Amino acid sequence: MKLIVTGGAGFIGGNFVYYILNRYPEDQVVCVDALTYAGNMETLSGAINRPNFKFVKADIADRETIYALFEEEKPDVVVNFAAESHVDRSITDPELFLRTNIIGTSVLLDACRKYGIQRYHQVSTDEVYGDLPLDRPDLFFTETSPIHTSSPYSASKASADLLVQAYHRTFQVPVTISRCSNNYGPYHFPEKLIPLMIANALNDKPLPVYGKGENVRDWLYVEDHCSAIDLIIRKGRVGEIYNIGGHNERTNLQVVKTILKELGKPESLIRYVTDRPGHDMRYAIDPTKIHEELGWLPVTKFDDGIQKTIQWYLDNRAWWEHIMSGEYQTYYQKMYGNR
Ligand code: NAD
Ligand code: DAU
Repeated sequence: MKLIVTGGAGFIGGNFVYYILNRYPEDQVVCVDALTYAGNMETLSGAINRPNFKFVKADIADRETIYALFEEEKPDVVVNFAAESHVDRSITDPELFLRTNIIGTSVLLDACRKYGIQRYHQVSTDEVYGDLPLDRPDLFFTETSPIHTSSPYSASKASADLLVQAYHRTFQVPVTISRCSNNYGPYHFPEKLIPLMIANALNDKPLPVYGKGENVRDWLYVEDHCSAIDLIIRKGRVGEIYNIGGHNERTNLQVVKTILKELGKPESLIRYVTDRPGHDMRYAIDPTKIHEELGWLPVTKFDDGIQKTIQWYLDNRAWWEHIMSGEYQTYYQKMYGNR
């Protein structure tokens, strides 16, 4: 099987590239990535010399280039991870999110129509469902929960999902969609909560917690997300949406305090800062469908996953220290300077 994996130089896409290469040596992986600030060739250093791996630097919204690529590669399966993925950046620059997340998806879908594929898989997010109240722990997102987005990021991802469904119904493109909760693990860009807190704690810098830190996220170890997508592209039903999550809900404050404890750093490093505008309160996934239909279950509990993740950041300092120098400093000053 030949897979085009878009966004493979990013966090989840990179982990997915290794997941496929390690489990299916007979498969061929063509990674397509524009190498934005979030893409990093160092993430792919263990893949780049493998005979069944190829890297192509390209923008998924560049129609001519994407058509030429499909014509040359003739992929069987396309898995679209490529996206602008950070909610905070979508609040400061919404338009970029529309271009990559919506137009980029539409270009990929058109290429699938034109050249024919066995499966197009859209990597979506639980954020398309909006949020849940803190005082209703009995509520979870199912695949039939209404779309109810909060940020330009989640609105762009929901728009892309609707396009994917429209291309299935109108043009019979064989699609699947997965909506996953918050991931964590190796190669996570240090602008997101967990890697940022690990890096700042290791550097004895303040840990910026938005609002009171009461917001809840449902954390999934990235390899469990990869195994779910792998099952969906091989065994999932065409036209279906699958939620992915592992019932690992934590408040942000719990996550931050766990990291500090694991690293032996004081809680006095926590700094409460101005809240994110439109901040979603709680995400929580009901993964019954993927479990019952495809037999998927996550294997990593949060307490183990966070230890593995912290160890990875300790063992791979060069990876995140390169990122956090240069351009990243400008971002950090803009995002946290006056907060
Ligand atoms: P990321 O920001 O770490 O990586 C995104 C990758 O896409 C980068 O390598 C970047 O260079 C590439 N990219 C961006 N614009 C591109 C373009 N126009 N053309 C080609 N490549 C482009 O993101 P991530 O956290 O790995 O998320 C991957 C996908 O999973 C996204 O679609 C995101 O919405 C979804 N998702 C993420 C999470 C999470 O917790 N991180 C959870 C659920 C779903
Ligand atoms: O739920 C899936 C989504 O999870 C994905 O679709 C997104 O691509 C991904 O970025 C993530 O979105 P979040 O907004 O939940 O992740 P983030 O790591 O940015 O923030 C997690 C929580 O931590 C959130 O409640 C905001 C808070 N936070 C974040 C940062 C960066 C802080 O308190 N301080 C911070 O400095």
